[in-house]
Amino acid sequence: MARSPRIIASIVAVALIVGAAAFAVVWRPAIAAIERPSPASFDPAVIKRGRELAALGNCNSCHTRQGGQDFAGGLPVPTPFGVIYSSNITPDPETGIGQWSEAAFARAMMTGVDREGRHLYPTFPYDHFTNVTDEDDRALYAFLMTRPPVHAPARPNELMFPLDQRPVIAGWKLLFLRGETFRPDPAKSAEWNHGAYLVDGLAHCGSCHTPRNALGAERASAQFAGGEADNWRAYALNDRAHAPVSWNAESLYAYLRNGWHPDHGTARGPMAEVVSNLSTVSDRDVRAIAIYMADISGAPKPESDRGAVLAQVEPASAQADAAGAAIYAAACASCHESGRPLPYGGVNLALSTAVTSPDPRNLANTVLSGVAAVAGERSPIMPGFADSMTDAQVTSLLNYLRARFSKEQPWTGVEKTVADARRSQTALLQSSVGPRNAPADPSQRDQP
Ligand code: HEC
Ligand code: HEC
Ligand code: HEC
Repeated sequence: MARSPRIIASIVAVALIVGAAAFAVVWRPAIAAIERPSPASFDPAVIKRGRELAALGNCNSCHTRQGGQDFAGGLPVPTPFGVIYSSNITPDPETGIGQWSEAAFARAMMTGVDREGRHLYPTFPYDHFTNVTDEDDRALYAFLMTRPPVHAPARPNELMFPLDQRPVIAGWKLLFLRGETFRPDPAKSAEWNHGAYLVDGLAHCGSCHTPRNALGAERASAQFAGGEADNWRAYALNDRAHAPVSWNAESLYAYLRNGWHPDHGTARGPMAEVVSNLSTVSDRDVRAIAIYMADISGAPKPESDRGAVLAQVEPASAQADAAGAAIYAAACASCHESGRPLPYGGVNLALSTAVTSPDPRNLANTVLSGVAAVAGERSPIMPGFADSMTDAQVTSLLNYLRARFSKEQPWTGVEKTVADARRSQTALLQSSVGPRNAPADPSQRDQP
């Protein structure tokens, strides 16, 4: 009996320690509100660099919704846990970041905490932005603070309990957020290091191209092994890549800069937005990204040059799926075997990663939705077949393409993938933003 007060005291002590630790993990102070700085107070050269950095970071892809104003937020970003709406990052004092100091902005980029001290969901890819230098954060801040302010209140997220509680995010950060700043590798070139800094940081390539674990964090041990975005597969880019012709620095540069390469075809879906942003940044940045990614993808594989890949295509008559063969001959071959150069002609499908990929999602998306024209530009166009083909017909076609144009095993579950693709493409057409297609000639694209 005499010991129970001591036991109670120690329980209280433990509870206090646990409570204090939890408080330390969760609690972040507010940073004082400021008057919106005058746009004239920012150096135009810094603003200009900020515009490029914002393009490298795809800030517009997530912070601008279809028909909405630039950076005013409200885009629904689907996650496996529910829908998160992006914030208004225009300098509107009431509904945007107009009252944020540069310190508040840099803290959000580096630790995912808003000005008032609330934890932000990692859908905002700050797990990559942690490595952004102070100088680059300053330029991004200058760019955003000089945009026209837009009054656009936040939309409430649609998340399941307990994930709708922001303190939970602190636990996620404790497990997965590495606040590492970028450390250059002295053994590599300056260009390689600049590429590594951009790819792992602002450009957050791994946020789509690296697989995630059950808690939605990127798997560090499987960097660039292939991930997903908006029901598109973001192909593997490491030495396990499925691209029929191996990527190299030159082809990566051309694809990232222009949106297509004759040995690989065009960027579609979420990658088209990435490329359309990259078409507006400095050549030096894109070249550095290409050099770093070429190193990630490793040495070219034997049998992976264009000639060898095209030589292995089976003759049409050798194929079993007669229904698929007939659809291909009637609806696809005229463009894809025309010999018209890219990007206006279709690539020989033996060169397409959509056909060699471990799942047929991107191929189904492309057949159903086609390749849309970019408004006001000469760009590749392919009709969508959603209205003219049934799921069973698309399934036959996909099975045929896999057998005829690749040496891989047949896909399983194709019919379900096609049905899912039809649903998600319809939903995306209603909610998404911007061109789903890259410009054929980036010089035609307006500079903001
Ligand atoms: C993949 C989508 C995505 C990209 C890319 C993205 N963001 Fe966001 N961002 C979001 C979402 C979603 C939120 C809201 C998170 C929340 O409510 O917890 C957000 C929140 C923010 C916030 C906090 C605003 C506030 O009022 O709390 C800032 C600042 C921000 N983003 C800046 C940027 C910048 C700068 C870039 C480009 C360098 C960028 N974001 C790129 C999705 C994105
Ligand atoms: C928002 C998600 C997203 C981001 C961010 C992203 N990608 Fe992609 N990427 C994709 C998707 C999806 C595809 C497949 C596109 C297709 O089917 O045409 C793709 C395709 C590619 C391909 C073509 C691979 C092949 O074999 O055809 C390359 C190369 C590539 N991405 C490089 C990059 C690099 C480098 C970055 C960063 C600068 C990046 N991606 C950022 C989603 C993304
Ligand atoms: C009017 C011409 C046209 C028709 C018809 C057409 N395509 Fe395309 N397709 C294109 C163009 C142009 C592109 C963009 C260049 C490229 O990537 O091949 C494209 C892109 C593609 C791609 C992406 C290749 C890559 O990885 O970049 C696939 C896959 C594809 N088409 C499959 C098909 C299939 C299957 C059919 C028949 C159901 C079809 N296309 C019918 C013109 C056409």
